Amino acid sequence: MRLDGKVAVITGGASGIGACTAERFIQEGAKVVLGDIQVDLGNKVADQLGDSADFFKCDVTSEDDVSGLIDFANDTHGGKVDIMMNNAGVVGARGPITQIPIEEFEATIQIHLIGTFLGIKHAAQTMKERGSGSIINLASTAGVNGGWGPHAYAAAKTAIVGLTKNVAAELCRYGIRVNSIAPGSTATPLVAKAHLDDHEAISDVKERLAELSPILGRPGQAIDVANAALYLASEESGNTNGHCLVVDGGATTGSKPGDPPYSTPEPFLREGGKSGI
Ligand SMILES: NC(=O)c1ccc[n+]([C@@H]2O[C@H](COP(=O)([O-])OP(=O)(O)OC[C@H]3O[C@@H](n4cnc5c(N)ncnc54)[C@H](O)[C@@H]3O)[C@@H](O)[C@H]2O)c1
Repeated sequence: MRLDGKVAVITGGASGIGACTAERFIQEGAKVVLGDIQVDLGNKVADQLGDSADFFKCDVTSEDDVSGLIDFANDTHGGKVDIMMNNAGVVGARGPITQIPIEEFEATIQIHLIGTFLGIKHAAQTMKERGSGSIINLASTAGVNGGWGPHAYAAAKTAIVGLTKNVAAELCRYGIRVNSIAPGSTATPLVAKAHLDDHEAISDVKERLAELSPILGRPGQAIDVANAALYLASEESGNTNGHCLVVDGGATTGSKPGDPPYSTPEPFLREGGKSGI
């Protein structure tokens, strides 16, 4: 019971990584409040999770909604929020830089960056009063490497990594830690929609990701990110602050599916004469 007695708020909790993390946190003793714009799905997920979960309708681009979400969690759970996971997200604006309408670029930044800012701001307010807390922000490998996602998405995720570090430097003096997670491609409705244009095609997208993964045959899954979030939420990460935890099977190392293993001599002379490690 690594989160025994803790209260967690998770935005984007109706689906994918957020819903999976809620389940994982509850298994470890937490109470969870899910915030999302998908009301029917959010209520359904909360019902399935049982008495330890509640749903609150929240659009993370609205400051009133985000402060309402934190107030709801405080009111429901005796005035405390121990863990805030800023996870809500969309793929957002796509296409070549010359063709992206400003409204679409701004809307993507609003959901990811402004949504994360508002989540940090209102969670920090209540955490400061109690002198403890863990804030976890969803970044992406698209925020770590160039060319790994659409422009607005990558810009927002890069900014989330930076905001995390900067706020960590302020809030550590109040006993609050702030970290981010950068998942690689993870089989969720968001990625199923992006790869296969069908947000329900989770098992098909798992197969596709298994082919692309550096750990051959092992797709990134929501539970991988949930377990990383569990570590950052728990006291086990008590001295980890401002960190970006990459959960991508090694994709950001440049490792590709089928690359020879590090321990063999082959990487020194790859096919085509390209030198390896
Ligand atoms: N799946 C991946 O491969 C991957 C990789 C890197 C980062 N991420 C990030 O992880 C997070 C979760 O993504 P997922 O893959 O679980 O996607 P998902 O689509 O399954 O879940 C995202 C949730 O966010 C909610 N949401 C969207 N806009 C919102 C808003 N304005 N207010 C409140 N809720 C809103 C959606 O309704 C949905 O329930 C996102 O921030 C995403 O960018 C995902």
